[in-house]
Amino acid sequence: MNKENRLRDLLVIVASLIIIVLSVVFMIQDGSFNINLSEDSKLAWHLTRSSGLIAYILLMASTVWGLFISSQFVKDWSPGPISMAIHSTISWLAVLFALGHALLLLFDDYFTYTLGDIFIPFTGPYRPEFVGLGTLAFWLMLVISASFAVKKFIGRRAWKLIHYLSYAGFGMVTAHGLFAGTDGDLLGFRLLVALGVGSTLILLGVRVGKSQVKSTKGHKRAKPAAGRRQHPLNEARRPKSAAQVTAMPPADVRE
Ligand code: HEM
Repeated sequence: MNKENRLRDLLVIVASLIIIVLSVVFMIQDGSFNINLSEDSKLAWHLTRSSGLIAYILLMASTVWGLFISSQFVKDWSPGPISMAIHSTISWLAVLFALGHALLLLFDDYFTYTLGDIFIPFTGPYRPEFVGLGTLAFWLMLVISASFAVKKFIGRRAWKLIHYLSYAGFGMVTAHGLFAGTDGDLLGFRLLVALGVGSTLILLGVRVGKSQVKSTKGHKRAKPAAGRRQHPLNEARRPKSAAQVTAMPPADVRE
């Protein structure tokens, strides 16, 4: 990076920070942060639902992006490390929004939730079976997101196995949103679910198809076609069998 570019980047960062600080000061003066979640009986509920929806959209995005990476759709325009950084960032954002979504239940005045109800699956006061699926999915999402950071230590195979759990997590959250959520019956929510589940299934089909074609090609390449003659150089390089070695005359005779 040359000096000019570095200076330009620095100016952009400083200008952005100034805008953020000024906006926060303006919002504090305007009273935007004077919110009391228990004052408005429905505010916590609206926030729980909206943060749940955002977490679900982020989870969908992370799943679809992961399939884009593994199917090598993005490799030509997004370098591997950047694709993985995007993947892990989206999945951590989904975890954060899901955490906020769950903790907001503490302010719900319709049902009384404790931390235990929120984080121990199937124990809460409202539809425990479907809310419990959300809790289980939350723990899965946490483990999967954390696995990005420890990939080097656990190895690629274990990391991949943990990653496969994300399909189970996605399925659980889908059932959770549909059957525990107030908006589960709305057409908009169902269209969102159809989009997420549909695109994941299609991409998964493409991914499985691609890896099958690859393994068939690899298999054919590994096995030389019957009857095909070997190149003489390959013949020469082939290790000699024990019988050939013993049949060889001793070095002094050969000379
Ligand atoms: C500790 C974990 C969780 C708990 C305790 C929990 C609890 C709840 C509850 C009680 C509702 C019903 C809210 C209502 O409509 O009145 C709900 C809805 C929902 N949750 Fe969760 N949830 C958890 C995890 C998750 C996760 C991980 C996601 C997504 C990644 C998620 C996404 C949703 C969605 C999309 C809805 C439907 C919202 C709507 O109706 O508009 N939840 N959750």
